[in-house]
Amino acid sequence: MKIAPSILSADFSQFGQQIQMAEKAGADMIHLDIMDGHFVPNISFGVGISKMSKTVSNLPHDAHLMVTDPENYYDELSAAGIEYISFHVEIDGQRKDLGKNRWVYVADKINIPARIDKNIKIIKDLGKKAGIVANPPTNFEVFERFLKKIDLLLLMSVNPGFSGQNFIPEVYDKLVKADKFRRENNLDFEIMIDGGVNKDNAAKLVSSGADILVSGSSFFQSSEFQEFIQKLKS
Ligand code: DX5
Ligand code: ZN
Repeated sequence: MKIAPSILSADFSQFGQQIQMAEKAGADMIHLDIMDGHFVPNISFGVGISKMSKTVSNLPHDAHLMVTDPENYYDELSAAGIEYISFHVEIDGQRKDLGKNRWVYVADKINIPARIDKNIKIIKDLGKKAGIVANPPTNFEVFERFLKKIDLLLLMSVNPGFSGQNFIPEVYDKLVKADKFRRENNLDFEIMIDGGVNKDNAAKLVSSGADILVSGSSFFQSSEFQEFIQKLKS
């Protein structure tokens, strides 16, 4: 089981130190939450900060692209040395209003499957691990057809855009189905869970098939990073 702290929750006034502390404490990866204010109701950071993180830490980095046009980011992320690049399967979906200036993109089917296939291929051709991401309302059957082509499946357990939100337990159903599909088809893509992960749900997520847990607020708010990682892993 791997832990990927999301630097979205880091103290940006001590950016470099926080990433180095996460690495020292035993983090396995660094999770980069890239947002465009369109696909999700928030703007975080882009390739520049991602690059900076890569220069202060030797850990593998995964870019979670919460953007409508992920194609615009691949070359630069690749050049920055980012190892995993993931984009959402809802990029051609519909925007569902959640009230209070929040929304989530949903897809009850993939409108342009060729675009998803093409994105996976571009990322792989750059020599990177290709990931697809599914929002909480998106069902397993919607993205099942792509699972034989990917390196990473990122399942959202919050509606993306913000750290510190409550875990949405409906993700378990998708997680169990994806893990079963992986075993039945002898596949080796990794499954990552992102959003509201904490000490209370980590064990169940891993026993349900998760390989990588993203942790934003619960990680960076813990007073002792190393102790937090040990607790989560045990
Ligand atoms: C949400 C991001 C998550 C977030 C996780 O849009 O994709 O990676 O930073 O933060 P926590 O762990 O606080 O839910
Ligand atoms: Zn994320």
